[in-house]
Amino acid sequence: MSSNEFYETTQALENYLRFCKEIGIGELPAGLAAGGTEIADTEKNGTALSPDRRDSHGSSAIQTLSEIREELGDCTRCRLCETRKSIVFGEGNPKARLVFVGEGPGRDEDIQGRPFVGRAGQLLTKIIQAMKLERKDVYICNVVKCRPPKNRNPEPDEVASCEPFLMKQIESINPEIIVSLGSVATGLMLKLKNFKMGQLRGTFHQYGNSKLMITYHPAALLRNPSFKKPVWEDMKLVMKELGIPVNG
Ligand code: URA
Repeated sequence: MSSNEFYETTQALENYLRFCKEIGIGELPAGLAAGGTEIADTEKNGTALSPDRRDSHGSSAIQTLSEIREELGDCTRCRLCETRKSIVFGEGNPKARLVFVGEGPGRDEDIQGRPFVGRAGQLLTKIIQAMKLERKDVYICNVVKCRPPKNRNPEPDEVASCEPFLMKQIESINPEIIVSLGSVATGLMLKLKNFKMGQLRGTFHQYGNSKLMITYHPAALLRNPSFKKPVWEDMKLVMKELGIPVNG
């Protein structure tokens, strides 16, 4: 290994360890000790907060997020309305360059009416911070806006009832990148039924105007820390695409 390669490898390792520390997972995956290091990505100039490419929208058919929320109203389109406390519409920057799409609110989200505020949500917040962003820079929402009882997966008809609202949110924000968290969001975005997350992640897909990155759900990461390395790899690709320096 040349000294340059050695430097790049140690830099990549340092960044990865910093990410692990940021997201609060102390154990190293077994593969790392066996040489599972990454080569540092080239830095790019730019900022994730730069003004939008969205001024060009122009069309009156595209609703604002407030209009979409208003249209959703006190929704009774599916049975999830019977048990929910709150409709968890989504929150963040209406002109975000980056949107995270989760599955559906859990208990904490249902109580607070905000997406990703429970344990998995706190981990997502740390991931966002490790990407040198803040929650207010991005937009965070879910496939279904009401909590499925006992946190079960949403049923296909519940997903179908909510889908138009997610589509409108994405159309309104028109982000450069969407990150789909977990299999429910991924199945919907890519219209797939049987798939393996591991085969779809790690590369950009296309979703309308936006690039789509698929990655593991933070709740899965809490259960299985070995997912943290692929998630970090995916987030580095997102950072690179947004022009956020990955190193340093
Ligand atoms: N899990 C999700 O998918 N969404 C939330 O808002 C919280 C947990």
